[in-house]
Amino acid sequence: MNWPEVEAYLRTDDRIILPLGSTEQHGPRAVIGSDHLTVEGIAREVAQRTGTITAPVIPYGMSLHHLGFPGTLALRSSTLGLVLRDLIASLEKTGFKRVLILNGHGGNRAPVESALAEIVNELPEMKVKFRSWWEAEGVSEYLQEAFGDREGHHGTPGETSLVMFLYPGVVKEKDVPFPGMRRPETYPDAKAFKALYPNGIIGADVNLASPEHGKNLFERCVAGMVKELSNRNDLGIGKNGS
Ligand code: NI
Repeated sequence: MNWPEVEAYLRTDDRIILPLGSTEQHGPRAVIGSDHLTVEGIAREVAQRTGTITAPVIPYGMSLHHLGFPGTLALRSSTLGLVLRDLIASLEKTGFKRVLILNGHGGNRAPVESALAEIVNELPEMKVKFRSWWEAEGVSEYLQEAFGDREGHHGTPGETSLVMFLYPGVVKEKDVPFPGMRRPETYPDAKAFKALYPNGIIGADVNLASPEHGKNLFERCVAGMVKELSNRNDLGIGKNGS
């Protein structure tokens, strides 16, 4: 889009999607970009179906615990909070009033919530929703039914299926041994994290991933986020009643 197009959009609506991901290792098969590729794909489709717009994806997140693996590019929690603050302030200054932060990385949740507690008090005109794709209606039920306990917590068949559906050919065929589930006793730094999860996967069986599962998950994520964007009580309907 160019700026007059955004200006025209703002005459009829004040909503925007802000996708937030990460750039971090996802085990020996799934790609490093998994968390930003998923939300970028979902956000584009949600924007199309609702007639709203999406900001470019923020491809970096709080991934300090993954820094034992090459390819990871991490923001500190405090940096991520400042990035969000500046971007939401930019949106406010230029006329947006409602933001749906669509998140693709579990490690972003605590830093984003902590930052939002400050941001919404600094910018009381802005209505901000924070949702992760796996919170969309029907997604956790689907993951449970398709993968059960083998969905795990990182490098999962769920997120990998989404990437396979959205970007065919990106995830290579490869058998990866299921590592089982281990939990840290104390809060792990990057070194302890790698010692605990040597191939980078946390309790997930990535061999179960498929584009078909990805398509089904994508549909649920998109439908759920369309609903979030249309909810009158929070983000509300657009000025034009859409
Ligand atoms: Ni991920």
